[in-house]
Amino acid sequence: MDKPALLISEEDIRKRVAELAEQISSDYADKGDLVLIGVLKGSFIFLADLSRRLTIPRTIEFIAVSSYGHASAHTGAVRLVMDVRGNIENRHVLIVEDIVDTGHTLKYLIGVLESHRPASIRACTLLHKAEAAEVDVSIDYVGFGIGNEWVVGYGLDFAERDRTLPYIGTVTPDD
Ligand code: PRP
Repeated sequence: MDKPALLISEEDIRKRVAELAEQISSDYADKGDLVLIGVLKGSFIFLADLSRRLTIPRTIEFIAVSSYGHASAHTGAVRLVMDVRGNIENRHVLIVEDIVDTGHTLKYLIGVLESHRPASIRACTLLHKAEAAEVDVSIDYVGFGIGNEWVVGYGLDFAERDRTLPYIGTVTPDD
């Protein structure tokens, strides 16, 4: 597989993350502590950068899910691998994703988190593949809309490769 082709530069990511953090900080000002829930593994870099730029009180949690079958052949079935550790009842929650593709994962996660009875649930994703949507799910904060391409870097992988690339690149998987 060739080296990933540049799609979104480090500098553009940095600027957009700062804008998202400003918007979120303003929306949640005076609402108390915000619980950021990173979805493993892909969100770990975005969550680290976004959370450090917020100017409001915040707490970090993680949740892990797994899709049945290979990620490139989503069946839509999602399984909970690890639930949040802290108590989120009556607290404001923001799900932090690296990418929303078909939307199945986010829809499933909202269902899981609703069962913990938080005060509110919103979702933030760095990347959104609107063309790939299979389910209707609302996303409150979107970093960048992208086309139907395979993306890596800044937390995203292809078969565990390229997660720590500092930019978002596209790859063409070999058949
Ligand atoms: C990716 C991404 C989302 C999900 C989105 O995770 O982090 O959680 O896919 O896809 P969907 O909208 O089609 O449900 P992935 O399964 O690649 O796992 P990873 O984050 O551990 O790499």
